[in-house]
Amino acid sequence: MPGGWLLSMAELGNIILIGFMGSGKSSVGRLVARRTGLQFVDTDALVEKQEGKAIPEIFAEQGEEHFRYVERLMLEEIANEKRMVLATGGGIVLREDNRQSLRDIGFVVWLTANEDEIFRRVSRNTNRPLLQTADPRAAVKDLFSTRRELYEQTADCVIDSSGMPHRAVVDRIISRARQYFAA
Ligand code: S3P
Repeated sequence: MPGGWLLSMAELGNIILIGFMGSGKSSVGRLVARRTGLQFVDTDALVEKQEGKAIPEIFAEQGEEHFRYVERLMLEEIANEKRMVLATGGGIVLREDNRQSLRDIGFVVWLTANEDEIFRRVSRNTNRPLLQTADPRAAVKDLFSTRRELYEQTADCVIDSSGMPHRAVVDRIISRARQYFAA
């Protein structure tokens, strides 16, 4: 990676990725971090580390409410970081205080894709407790429709990654972030 490119990223602050499960927050976020030199942080990974178990176990043993409580604690813990790419769990926007914190912390990008593509992506694994239902397709539809407004309210910009390669999504996020932090 040429040093000049990293140096030109010096003006960047925190970049926060929000969006539905399967929207690519973690994979794209990791690439954005690599390209910008910012630190990569993932709230799901922090919750798992804090609890010493994987998300499906947390949901099964302590329930969603406990998961949301720990997710909030983790967000409070990292709120003072200055140069990170933060990938968040898809339900982080459910709490009003989280929505406010995310907006306070940095530039918030809502990463989205069309529902078919989201469904295709989330069908690849079984690590999302909220989709372990008799009709996961209906669960995606339901959750997506109730959360859309919350993502919209919280985000500074929206990027629809449907049919886009990761590299193009990364380019777009970085370019929008630079505009935001230059303003
Ligand atoms: C959730 C999304 C998951 C994880 C948990 C709950 C949600 O994160 O936080 O399973 O409520 O949408 P991803 O969006 O990274 O899959």
